[in-house]
Amino acid sequence: MSTTQSGNGQPSGCPFSNPKDFTPWAPEFVQNPYPTFKWLRSLGPVAYSEAMGYWVISSHEAIKQILMDEERFSSKMMLQTMTKWPEDVARELAAVIPDRPMLKDLDGEAHDKARRFLRFAFTPRRLEWIRGDVERIADECLDSLFADGEGAADIVRRFTDIAPMRVLMKFLGIPDDMSEQIRAWSHNREDMLQGNLTEEELRAGVKPLKDYYAYARQRIEELEANPGDDYMSEVIKLWKQEQPENVMWDDVLNILMSLMNAGHATTTDLMGNGLWALLTHRDQWDKLCADPELVSHAVEEMLRWETSVPAWRRLALVDLEIEGHHIPAGSKIFLLLGSGNRDESVVSDGESFDIERTDGRQYLTFSAGAHYCLGQSLAKLELNTYFRRLVTHYPQLQVREGFEPDYRVNAFHRGPNSLPVELGPEPLHAGGGVERNAR
Ligand code: HEM
Repeated sequence: MSTTQSGNGQPSGCPFSNPKDFTPWAPEFVQNPYPTFKWLRSLGPVAYSEAMGYWVISSHEAIKQILMDEERFSSKMMLQTMTKWPEDVARELAAVIPDRPMLKDLDGEAHDKARRFLRFAFTPRRLEWIRGDVERIADECLDSLFADGEGAADIVRRFTDIAPMRVLMKFLGIPDDMSEQIRAWSHNREDMLQGNLTEEELRAGVKPLKDYYAYARQRIEELEANPGDDYMSEVIKLWKQEQPENVMWDDVLNILMSLMNAGHATTTDLMGNGLWALLTHRDQWDKLCADPELVSHAVEEMLRWETSVPAWRRLALVDLEIEGHHIPAGSKIFLLLGSGNRDESVVSDGESFDIERTDGRQYLTFSAGAHYCLGQSLAKLELNTYFRRLVTHYPQLQVREGFEPDYRVNAFHRGPNSLPVELGPEPLHAGGGVERNAR
């Protein structure tokens, strides 16, 4: 299947000329990974990056096959750090981070068991329980958006970065006023595990990471003593029923840490990416404002076109052959989910953003197989609620002229750091001007 492109035939915006040099840290790639994805697909679905020490997989079919094949590909390395921690950092953190696998790095039966236990969190009943809060929090954020009367705001700082975190706090039974702190801790944790930090930056990240774990332990104790109607209180109750003799508190801590990390930056970044896509494809935005019933289609297209999780990982358990490449047991595999989402063998004209397309639903944004994202229905509930309100109340919204977003340097997460928007030529006030009949 490998077809080598002649000369330097990579599309403009791709900073690499040989796949062996590929890393997710190149500034042009961080800014826009899609030209590189396209170039890698044109070379064939499998490449080896010497710079990373990973096999890089770029086609929809190959990525999906790997995700579905739990026998030969393990998740056991999901918590390995992308850059090696210095010994003192690793030693100090070993004292606070439980030496127990988390959901996302379990395989086989152990994973099935843990996942069955967590699934009840995402029942329709739980979603109905949180729905009113999603709506309330969206309204509160939107009310604050242009509250200073200037008609301009950073929508990431005021909305996309705030709402998913506040929803998650409510879901997990964590006080609302901890949102800011948890976001900072959680970003630090992601960067320690998945970023490209210097030794000095890694050392600076130790204290906040220890504080994060200490807080999570303390919160579990509080919820055990005073349970609420939130999801974590339910987990603790069921966990104690299941293990009346010897409760594994480290496992409960891991559940809380998994959800605190999996459940907000993913949605925040998707909102930022989706909004940027819509506002820079003005015809699509206008179409949506004219017919808000299209929001659920638009959300699906945002999830496909610019996912917030453009890459994921697996470990080869046995020697294997993919598309003519010999991949030895123990190899690390970097799966370019964002590339698979635009692969034209499954979606026509995959590089174009079209909220009315009908062939885009096979995206890999929430992964596939046994580890398929548990929170996708909550994420979709949030995204639909937020975008419905935005297009209904702020049809004049536009990105500040000349603005180009920049992105956090992280191998697995992608979303704009800020997105300054203006209300446009005829500013409308959040509280007035437009009737809120869509709420
Ligand atoms: C747009 C938003 C989201 C995206 C793009 C996303 C994406 C993903 C991806 C790619 C995985 C990896 C699965 C694998 O290892 O194969 C995953 C797993 C997971 N996600 Fe999400 N996610 C989102 C929102 C959420 C939310 C809101 C929650 C919970 C509140 C959540 C909870 C989880 C959990 C618990 C797992 C681990 C599942 C397992 O290992 O069995 N996610 N997600």
